[in-house]
Amino acid sequence: MILVTGGAGFIGANFIKEWLLHTSDSLINLDKLTYAGNLANLSDCSADPRYEFVQGDICNRKLVREILQQYQPRALINFAAESHVDRSIQAPENFIQTNIVGTYSLLEEALIYWRELPPEEKAQFRFLHISTDEIYGSLSADEAPFTEESPFLPSNPYSASKASADHLVQAYGKTYHLPVLITKSSNNFGPLQFPEKFIPHTILQALDGKSIHLYGDGLQIRNWIDVRDHCEALRLVLEKGKPGESYNISSQTELTNLGLAHQICAILDQLRPATSPYASLIVHVEDRPGHDRRYALNSTKALRELGWQSQGNFSDDLQSTIKWYLANLAWIENILSGEYHHWMRTHYKELP
Ligand code: NAD
Ligand code: TYD
Repeated sequence: MILVTGGAGFIGANFIKEWLLHTSDSLINLDKLTYAGNLANLSDCSADPRYEFVQGDICNRKLVREILQQYQPRALINFAAESHVDRSIQAPENFIQTNIVGTYSLLEEALIYWRELPPEEKAQFRFLHISTDEIYGSLSADEAPFTEESPFLPSNPYSASKASADHLVQAYGKTYHLPVLITKSSNNFGPLQFPEKFIPHTILQALDGKSIHLYGDGLQIRNWIDVRDHCEALRLVLEKGKPGESYNISSQTELTNLGLAHQICAILDQLRPATSPYASLIVHVEDRPGHDRRYALNSTKALRELGWQSQGNFSDDLQSTIKWYLANLAWIENILSGEYHHWMRTHYKELP
């Protein structure tokens, strides 16, 4: 039995599906169901007797304590977070609460629980915290990718809250010897991603014949990884990772946002031709404040110590992701609440 937090979101839901497919282990999912969490993401898991869901907040220590006592998990994987940089710029409060205080709450309760475990289970327990390359800050075009030794230089409230959480997790490992692991992955893409993020946002805007928004010159670079590739790495980190260590998880695919938008449009032109090429919808809008210019991760430590490297082929994976969105328009309709429409009106100043 493992405990997953934030499993109704994008990466967590993909992880749970893969976990139930590739292991015989059971899993409990604790999720608050914010605007980004949706049980429709896990509809095909609900009939599996190995899967249980509890709605609740990771900041609720009493609830976390009860879950740990009742289910006695061998690991806790913390995906729960506020995850959208633009929202963190508009309203940082929830990011501080969930990403920092929530991680602290999990660490405290995990420590109490872990200390009482019998020796063998105590040695096997793991606290795996899911982090991001954004804690390292921004690179220029000619700098080498970040390694696990790179300093933390976060630029926005989201990345600052994630960096704070990482510091806390490391501190609980060093100070109390809680067996912690941290993974820092680059930008994920794939099925089930909430359409506030760049790739699904671009697909949906194009399909609706609406503007595809590029912040600033669109030449910012992101290092993309397929979420299923990321989830495979997480299972390996849990199994083979050395307590106290952190691991970068990425592919070698670095793309400008402009180049990526054109790739998405070209695939849509083939799969769902419209009267004019989708790229004609691309517009440049005001840049994001504090916008990191480039992210790139060096993942050779994961290869060296865990035998993991990305198996993805970006063009194929992007194509299969777009096909997934085209085949799941009903899923999109379901998850787009009034809250999403409010975001589209206030952030992009347009009616969705
Ligand atoms: P997401 O926003 O899609 O999902 C977050 C989930 O956490 C939702 O189900 C939400 O309901 C839940 N949640 C939020 N606050 C909670 C709380 N207080 N208590 C319990 N549950 C709560 O995020 P995601 O893209 O799946 O990201 C998952 C993790 O991976 C995050 O920690 C994020 O920082 C990290 N990460 C994401 C990316 C990416 O590209 N998406 C890249 C690197 C790291
Ligand atoms: P995003 O998916 O928000 O991820 P992150 O900010 O965590 O990297 O954005 C990916 C890149 O796309 C980032 O450089 C910001 C840019 N972007 C746009 O140009 N337009 C948009 O509408 C969005 C949502 C993002």
